[in-house]
Amino acid sequence: MKLKVLPILSAGSCKFLENWLTLAFLSFNMNSSVLQEHPASGSQNMGQTRSKPEEEDDSAVLVAQEEDFKESKRVRARVNDREVVIFYHDGKYNALDLRCYHAGGPLHLGEIEDIGGQTCVICPWHKYKIALATGEGLYEGSDPQDPKETMWFSKGVKQRIHKVMVRNGGVYVKLSDTRIQCESDYYTSKTFDEDNNMLGS
Ligand code: FES
Repeated sequence: MKLKVLPILSAGSCKFLENWLTLAFLSFNMNSSVLQEHPASGSQNMGQTRSKPEEEDDSAVLVAQEEDFKESKRVRARVNDREVVIFYHDGKYNALDLRCYHAGGPLHLGEIEDIGGQTCVICPWHKYKIALATGEGLYEGSDPQDPKETMWFSKGVKQRIHKVMVRNGGVYVKLSDTRIQCESDYYTSKTFDEDNNMLGS
């Protein structure tokens, strides 16, 4: 078998190679920093496209004043053609689609109760329980470990919730992203006779 012998560099050529590598390294670093700082570079543009702070969000709609919640603790509103109800309970606002995901019951007429550690609205039609903060449907079942004990379980998010903001005494609602479907969506375009008995504005 033939061995290939690599040429051995002299001390002078080693020094030349070392200098050349140092220059190449410095040149690469300078170019990199120019790219990072150039205003037209991608990274700079990415930094400029930060999302707007919440208070600058102009897609939120003014639905009521805080004082409107004093008596009934709830307000019915229409936001971009969607019927919503806003509840005020224990110092917090929560907005949901107004029509119950089960069969379109009027949630703004429902009682508010704490169930299984969650504040819920009880639909007046068939008593379904819906958590205000998450839109989850709750049901009572027995604990498999102890069948005599009943517990509250979640059916998952069934009722669409929306974001509520308060600015200078005004209550604003921003609709959630409707591209992600929710069961209550079906009833948002329906008209019911019960509308005539509704509370709120
Ligand atoms: S419509 Fe709400 S529980 Fe049936």
